[in-house]
Amino acid sequence: MILVTGGAGFIGSNFVLDWLAQSDEKIVNLDKLTYAGNLQNLSSLTGDSRHYFVQGDIGDIQLVPQLLKQHQPRAIINLAAESHVDRSIHGPEDFIQTNILGTFRLLEAVRTYWNELETQEKQNFRFLHVSTDEVYGSLTLNEPAFTEEHPYQPNSPYSASKASSDHLVRAYHHTYKLPVLTTNCSNNYGPFQFPEKLIPLMIVNALTGKSLPVYGDGQQIRDWLYVTDHCSAIRRVLEAGIPGETYNIGGWNEKPNIDIVKMICDLLGETYPNSTFQNLITYVQDRPGHDRRYAIDAKKIERELNWRPAETFATGIRKTIQWYLNNQQWINNVQTGSYREWIEKNYTGIAQ
Ligand code: NAD
Ligand code: TYD
Repeated sequence: MILVTGGAGFIGSNFVLDWLAQSDEKIVNLDKLTYAGNLQNLSSLTGDSRHYFVQGDIGDIQLVPQLLKQHQPRAIINLAAESHVDRSIHGPEDFIQTNILGTFRLLEAVRTYWNELETQEKQNFRFLHVSTDEVYGSLTLNEPAFTEEHPYQPNSPYSASKASSDHLVRAYHHTYKLPVLTTNCSNNYGPFQFPEKLIPLMIVNALTGKSLPVYGDGQQIRDWLYVTDHCSAIRRVLEAGIPGETYNIGGWNEKPNIDIVKMICDLLGETYPNSTFQNLITYVQDRPGHDRRYAIDAKKIERELNWRPAETFATGIRKTIQWYLNNQQWINNVQTGSYREWIEKNYTGIAQ
């Protein structure tokens, strides 16, 4: 079996669903259920004995060793993290706790567990750490995309905490020979993404006639990847990646934010032809230290592991919008009191 951390979050729940759709290998899912964790994402697995959910913290030094001992996973996929840049700007503490200290404690528990495995199991074991392209910092318009050799230059508390965890993972391979794999992926989008991130926020705001807050000039560029493509890349790296190596994952799909927002408005207009969603676009104060451009060079994973994304942005964004249109109840359920508090804090003074 495998142990997935953060499996009730956006990418984690997609990963769990995707994994169990293709394999009968069991998953132990360890998730703290922060504001971003949501068991509704996994409701289709109710009663499925292949999925064992445990609410807990990756930094819990009693629980994690006990889980490892009890379930004897052959691999760990570490997705648990605080993941939102704007929240890291308002309050970095949780990012340091989970992304740095939590990853460190998880690594310590795994090191002890791994050391006690028999030779064959020890050799086959993998610790796969899911990271982000944001650790590489920001690109200008004409610079080449990030390769795996690009220096780390994290600019936000979020990316700095992820960079720190990447370094710890790397060090556990170098020092203790723990068989680790690290993936650095670009921006994901798709079903179950919490509506604090750009794409779901714009969809849910548009559907309720709220303003669409575009930071700064809207010309910041991100490289968007449909979430199930990220899941297939993680599976491929787990299967065939070389321990100690890192793999960049991206969609070959760079777009300025404003183009994304306009495209969402146009696509929603196909369902609601009489609405004028574009009138809701509101330019607001820029994010402090806002990275201008991210772009992933995903040639290594293509060349060495034969992985390429299956979706284009045109197909992925349609599926995503349709999912949000079909899952109004999910949207209502996540827009609780703490969600409204966040929106008020981050978007003060913007008409909602
Ligand atoms: P998310 O915020 O939607 O989910 C994170 C999950 O981790 C939640 O279910 C939360 O409850 C859980 N969690 C948080 N702290 C925990 C702790 N201490 N112990 C156990 N569980 C904890 O995040 P996401 O967008 O699904 O991202 C998953 C991973 O992928 C993160 O490591 C993130 O850095 C990375 N990543 C995300 C993107 C993206 O575009 N979303 C891109 C590249 C990499
Ligand atoms: P986000 O989804 O938060 O991902 P990240 O910051 O990790 O790339 O934001 C994507 C881009 O969209 C980023 O350039 C910030 C911008 N953005 C807005 O313009 N308005 C918003 O309300 C949000 C949440 C993001």
